[in-house]
Amino acid sequence: MSPAHLHPCPASAVPHHIAIVMDGNGRWAQKRLLPRLAGHKKGVDALRLCVSQCAERGVRILTVFAFSSENWKRPQDEVRGLMGLMATALNREAAALQKNGVRLHCIGQREQLDAKIQHSLMQAEALTAQNDRLILNVCFNYGGRWDIAQAAEQLRLQGTPITEASLNRHMALHHVPDPDLLIRTGGEMRLSNFLLWQAAYAELYFSPTLWPDYDGSDLDAAIAAYSQRQRRYGKTAEQVVHGSPATPVPGGDSELP
Ligand code: IPE
Ligand code: IPE
Ligand code: MG
Repeated sequence: MSPAHLHPCPASAVPHHIAIVMDGNGRWAQKRLLPRLAGHKKGVDALRLCVSQCAERGVRILTVFAFSSENWKRPQDEVRGLMGLMATALNREAAALQKNGVRLHCIGQREQLDAKIQHSLMQAEALTAQNDRLILNVCFNYGGRWDIAQAAEQLRLQGTPITEASLNRHMALHHVPDPDLLIRTGGEMRLSNFLLWQAAYAELYFSPTLWPDYDGSDLDAAIAAYSQRQRRYGKTAEQVVHGSPATPVPGGDSELP
């Protein structure tokens, strides 16, 4: 018999939950001597395409990083442009999301956003609240460290002991299971403060494609790579392949499988 490590044993060929750091908009524009905002605009088109392609492939949850809590440090006109784009995209795309059975959740610190954007966020979420074909989490003004800190603060205020399980229930993505596959486009190999808690056992995939150019063939390549991975969660390859029992972890309240 062949050794177990030659037999990848994915839970499923198609990831249930994909998370994407949509990076490379600025470089896409600069290569064409266009203003960076032109890249961000193209990035919205790429996201629209990606949402429908994920739904077609049977992905049930898509979580994207659209604006990080550190992106406020960019030049004022770029930040203003990104805020305007978010407002326009929400107003323009809400009906299409609704038509396509996509449920939208906006994840991040909303209080710091313009009142108009906050209103559009709530409207789009309410409009799509009954949909279940695909859940789309748009992380906007989101940071992984903020997420962990806000969950801990909620527990402190309630007087609830801080454990992995209680923190998990208060994280911003508590309504969905952890991502199976985390993709970053644009060639950088870092998380940039995205899903620090939730990505503990995500399969990582880095693509050189700049986000505005991202299409179905890039998505298929990432899914194909994912389907070849063996997810071990700390066990041995043999345990995974043969389903042999795991030794209980001492005192563990871990939410991990
Ligand atoms: C990602 O593209 C979008 C945001 C961070 C808002 P970038 O704007 O970071 O593009 P590059 O990395 O400069 O090419
Ligand atoms: C991460 O990209 C944030 C988003 C894609 C929204 P950045 O371009 O901000 O990341 P760094 O600064 O290169 O790490
Ligand atoms: Mg970038």
